[in-house]
Amino acid sequence: MEGRRRDRIPAGELRVEPFRENIDVRTFDCGDPDLNSFLTTNEVANYEREGLGKTRLVYWQPEGKLAAYFTVSSESLRLEYLRSVKSFSIPGQIRVESVPGIKIGRLATDREFQRRDIGTHILRYVAGLALQAPAAARILFLEAYPGSVSFYEKFDFEQVVHHRFKHRRTVLMYFDLRRLPEWPGSGRASP
Ligand SMILES: CC(C)(COP(=O)(O)OP(=O)(O)OC[C@H]1O[C@@H](n2cnc3c(N)ncnc32)[C@H](O)[C@@H]1OP(=O)(O)O)[C@@H](O)C(=O)NCCC(=O)NCCS
Repeated sequence: MEGRRRDRIPAGELRVEPFRENIDVRTFDCGDPDLNSFLTTNEVANYEREGLGKTRLVYWQPEGKLAAYFTVSSESLRLEYLRSVKSFSIPGQIRVESVPGIKIGRLATDREFQRRDIGTHILRYVAGLALQAPAAARILFLEAYPGSVSFYEKFDFEQVVHHRFKHRRTVLMYFDLRRLPEWPGSGRASP
């Protein structure tokens, strides 16, 4: 991402609301047609209805503008995939096939608000959701667009390399929630 960094937005100026069908989201534009279309067509409502992903809208309170959205679901990742990442480990005597977590299915900031810390606040917020969830979540994971990989790497997300994913146009990345205290700015408030 090029360009001058505009004023950062503090977490306290953001409000997070669950997606509802009667909310007008048609003006949202993050610059990516697929992510725009997910929110501005029936797709988002279908995901909600079918229990496949919960979408939350993030507003910049001073002007009541829709600044970002994200979609999360409870999913797990096969341990076999995580084994490719040296930093991930669980004691050998524990036998599990997969590791529970929160999948960030979609995350997008409107162009007007990009590079102003909103994505950062959202990642912290999602980590908070994962830690407070009634079901265990050890990791956050997502399929990143190649152009967003370095954004997630700033937060120590790591690429999961496995031959099964060789031909995908996205990059599977994960973050071990045990490493949350090491996050930049950890301890700052989330929206
Ligand atoms: C990627 C995206 C979600 C980041 O959200 P954001 O609100 O702009 O992120 P932030 O302002 O919190 O950025 C945090 C840091 O990451 C950097 N960053 C943001 N997007 C980046 C990118 N695509 N590549 C590299 N670094 C990036 C910022 O410059 C900032 O760094 P700094 O603190 O050193 O200045 C947003 O740019 C976006 O919606 N892009 C289009 C859609 C998309 O690609 N979504 C991701 C799908 S996997």
